Amino acid sequence: MTHAIRFHAHGGPDVLRWEQVDVGEPGPKEVRIRHTAVGLNFIDVYERTGLYSSKLPTTPGREGAGVIEAVGSGIRDFAVGDRVGYAADRGGAYAEARVMPAERLVKLPSAIDDRSAAALMLKGLTVQMLLRQIHRVRKSDIVLIHAAAGGVGMIAVQWAKHLGATVIATVGSAAKQDAVRALRADHVLTLEEDWVAQVKSITRKRGVNVVYDSVGKDTFMQSLDCLRPRGLMVTYGNSSGPVPPVAPLELSKRGSLFLTRPTLFNYTATRSALQRAADELLDLAARSVIKVHVGQTYPLQDAARAHRELEARQTTGSTVLLP
Ligand SMILES: NC(=O)c1ccc[n+]([C@@H]2O[C@H](COP(=O)([O-])OP(=O)(O)OC[C@H]3O[C@@H](n4cnc5c(N)ncnc54)[C@H](OP(=O)(O)O)[C@@H]3O)[C@@H](O)[C@H]2O)c1
Repeated sequence: MTHAIRFHAHGGPDVLRWEQVDVGEPGPKEVRIRHTAVGLNFIDVYERTGLYSSKLPTTPGREGAGVIEAVGSGIRDFAVGDRVGYAADRGGAYAEARVMPAERLVKLPSAIDDRSAAALMLKGLTVQMLLRQIHRVRKSDIVLIHAAAGGVGMIAVQWAKHLGATVIATVGSAAKQDAVRALRADHVLTLEEDWVAQVKSITRKRGVNVVYDSVGKDTFMQSLDCLRPRGLMVTYGNSSGPVPPVAPLELSKRGSLFLTRPTLFNYTATRSALQRAADELLDLAARSVIKVHVGQTYPLQDAARAHRELEARQTTGSTVLLP
């Protein structure tokens, strides 16, 4: 028997319970992983509250690292003992062990330890999607990145700087500004000030090429105001709540803007797309071009406390749960 966090009803962090589960044996093309580290993501909160649907009872968690301890039939590329990491399109990571399809795994290079991998796989692949697939960020770009001191945000700032872009970053309050300045962001604003006016002043009224907005409801309309004509709005999260319906005319009157609402799993749907994105990410991390900031760890059993602190904006960088 192994232990896992499960919830039987949607709700606040208190619905997360530490229970005994039987994860079973891997079926064809599946493996069983013994987790050494599990990544915490805001998506886990959406799943817990019911904003994203899941069948109950369920074990949340879509990011992890560990060692393969059993393989099912038809597995050629992985073997017992391999160190692997993953970003999964469904829950199950908040567990001492899990069974999952081998095609979602990537082998971890020795330069990347398990905690870093658990902090990096889903968040870093998300950044690869944002900066390398949705829009290929260039030196001439000015990009606006919200929640820059968060898990995804810290990786995004470093990667955008590596690509040579000018980075305007926002954080919720002054307490988190220094953490983002240390990543060489060109400007670090707080959401407490008139950040739209600041963006306009920094860009000499032109606006930015791209906004990467994971905050959602609280920042969406103002983010549109920061774009230059034909700029791109990437709304990819709901940390403050989901964005309400928006009229296409709002895009037209601000200068023929583009709007997308991406999901990572559409950008890593095939094995080759996943491996290509992971190779790029893991190479940058192994060379320390991207440094993983694990701001806090919690025992996996204390996942409820980790959720509370993530939602209360008390975390910085990535958060890792330890089985
Ligand atoms: N579309 C995709 O495929 C995809 C994939 C992965 C992640 N995401 C999204 O990316 C975002 C970042 O994910 P993450 O796991 O790295 O989390 P995170 O950014 O570390 O999340 C916490 C941060 O969100 C910010 N925030 C802003 N408004 C908030 C509010 N009202 N309540 C709580 N926090 C608020 C806070 O930063 P400040 O204190 O600085 O305000 C907080 O520290 C999430 O929105 C997530 O849904 C999307």
